[in-house]
Amino acid sequence: MTTGDGELTIRAAGPLDVDAIASIERSVFADPWSRRSFVDLVASPEVHFLVAVAGGAVAGYAIVLMAAEQSELANLAVARLLQGRGVGRRLLERAIELTRERGCTEMFLEVRASNASAIHLYSTVGFTAVGRRIRYYARPIEDAIVMRAPLVAEPAAVGARARGPGRA
Ligand SMILES: CC(C)(COP(=O)(O)OP(=O)(O)OC[C@H]1O[C@@H](n2cnc3c(N)ncnc32)[C@H](O)[C@@H]1OP(=O)(O)O)[C@@H](O)C(=O)NCCC(=O)NCCS
Repeated sequence: MTTGDGELTIRAAGPLDVDAIASIERSVFADPWSRRSFVDLVASPEVHFLVAVAGGAVAGYAIVLMAAEQSELANLAVARLLQGRGVGRRLLERAIELTRERGCTEMFLEVRASNASAIHLYSTVGFTAVGRRIRYYARPIEDAIVMRAPLVAEPAAVGARARGPGRA
């Protein structure tokens, strides 16, 4: 990782990170989440809220919500000046690792249909498109692509195995 400020550390976000997170959020999204929502998420036990820290400053964050065996990558962002240097990938891989360790078997996410760099990143770690939500986003209005990644190995032909050998 080459942020120009030494090593990148991935750790759990805390209340003192919220201002930096909210600032990145406002600078990279046209429809940013509120500062209050980050305060609530940092305090929630059912959330993996990670920050990437470089040179003592928050470089990016990832938020995964968990419910039983399912999880959702609810947010991922990297400070504009540090994008394209591997920070997003490091955050995503760590978030997946932690969520798998918690026993979740799959992860979903929604992404703007035009967000080619994010869709590319997600596809390289195992996400595939499984649906589309029409006009899901506001400011600007845009469809969402729904993506899913298995967090455990899936047999290639689950249905065939469950049914056993063919009888015809
Ligand atoms: C999407 C985002 C989180 C990726 O983080 P990042 O640190 O910039 O990405 P990385 O440097 O880890 O690169 C990950 C992959 O994305 C690709 N990528 C990153 N920036 C890109 C760009 N501007 N154009 C095309 N591809 C890009 C890289 O090619 C890389 O793939 P590779 O390793 O196979 O080359 C970051 O760009 C961002 O915060 N964007 C704005 C907010 C956003 O769209 N978040 C996602 C919401 S679903």
